[in-house]
Amino acid sequence: MTLAPVPIGDPRWLHAQALDAARIDYAWTAAQWERPHDCDRLFTAGPGAMALLRINPWDHTAHLLKIAVAANQEGTGTARQLWGQIENWLRAESIQAVHLEVREDNRRAVRFYEALGFGRLRTVRGYYSDGADALLLLKALNSSI
Ligand SMILES: CC(C)(COP(=O)(O)OP(=O)(O)OC[C@H]1O[C@@H](n2cnc3c(N)ncnc32)[C@H](O)[C@@H]1OP(=O)(O)O)[C@@H](O)C(=O)NCCC(=O)NCCS
Repeated sequence: MTLAPVPIGDPRWLHAQALDAARIDYAWTAAQWERPHDCDRLFTAGPGAMALLRINPWDHTAHLLKIAVAANQEGTGTARQLWGQIENWLRAESIQAVHLEVREDNRRAVRFYEALGFGRLRTVRGYYSDGADALLLLKALNSSI
């Protein structure tokens, strides 16, 4: 069965918001969670795993805004499995590529993304408000890209 995005207003959005607050630097504010962008798609795997993507239907790309698992689920493969199902959904939607930014010092996340097949596009110096650098990563979902 293909994983489907969580409908807006579903209580799973609150689980995702809680994970965001607990696990992600620069978490969204409550107002951002209450009014997601029309193109935002949330995916969850139980209350302890979530990913939020913004789909660009004009150029068939997706921006991975956030992905997180609860601390007690790290290293269990949950995040990898969730991403695999999201990739299936993206391919079915004819999305050609996914991009994201990650703090260069978030070693675990960088390793995770590289294990999933994301490649480094470039480094943006001082991208984050504390001066940390960002890595821009890209994964093509279509072999001709
Ligand atoms: C980033 C995050 C989602 C990765 O989840 P995870 O639980 O480590 O991922 P998985 O267990 O599914 O592991 C997937 C791959 O990541 C890599 N990985 C997992 N644990 C690792 C570790 N301790 N050290 C280095 N790499 C690791 C491995 O390559 C692994 O592949 P494998 O299963 O073939 O060995 C998780 O650490 C997290 O929620 N972090 C906090 C939020 C965050 O920083 N999100 C990213 C920015 S939005």
